[in-house]
Amino acid sequence: MAEELIVASGGKVERYEVLAAQVEALLAGEDDVVANMANVAAMIHHTFDFWWTGFYRVVEGELILGPFQGPLACSRIGYGRGVCGTAWKEGRTVVVEDVEQFPGHIACSSLSRSEIVVPLWRGEEVVGVLDIDSRELATFDDVDARWLERIVGMMRL
Ligand code: SME
Repeated sequence: MAEELIVASGGKVERYEVLAAQVEALLAGEDDVVANMANVAAMIHHTFDFWWTGFYRVVEGELILGPFQGPLACSRIGYGRGVCGTAWKEGRTVVVEDVEQFPGHIACSSLSRSEIVVPLWRGEEVVGVLDIDSRELATFDDVDARWLERIVGMMRL
């Protein structure tokens, strides 16, 4: 795989198509979960120039910060807390158009305006989440949800 990220110049779907192919190629050559989380976070982050892109892993009943791109973030998040803990508890992707309207949102950065959190599944169990923050309102929709679910679904966790 080329070392350089190829960022498609088209719209959102075209970018996700290229991104998914890059992630598939990456995962074919590496089994280490942390290395793959780190590179998948980097690929997503730099494809779209998001504000923060990263993983939290479920460890002994809480979410603990994993590989990410972006500024400093909260290290630990409780079950059902914030957007991340809600996605974990409810076992579904949570799209937040305006973080100020989400009860219990955990503000790791005051610049974050909208957010998407996608659960990571191992069989029937949520073992972590992918969290992405944007500096703009309403960045994420069902298109992002489906593509990001597909991308994290390719990871061996
Ligand atoms: N906003 C998240 C916390 C994680 S940071 O955004 C990286 C939440 O409410 O769960």
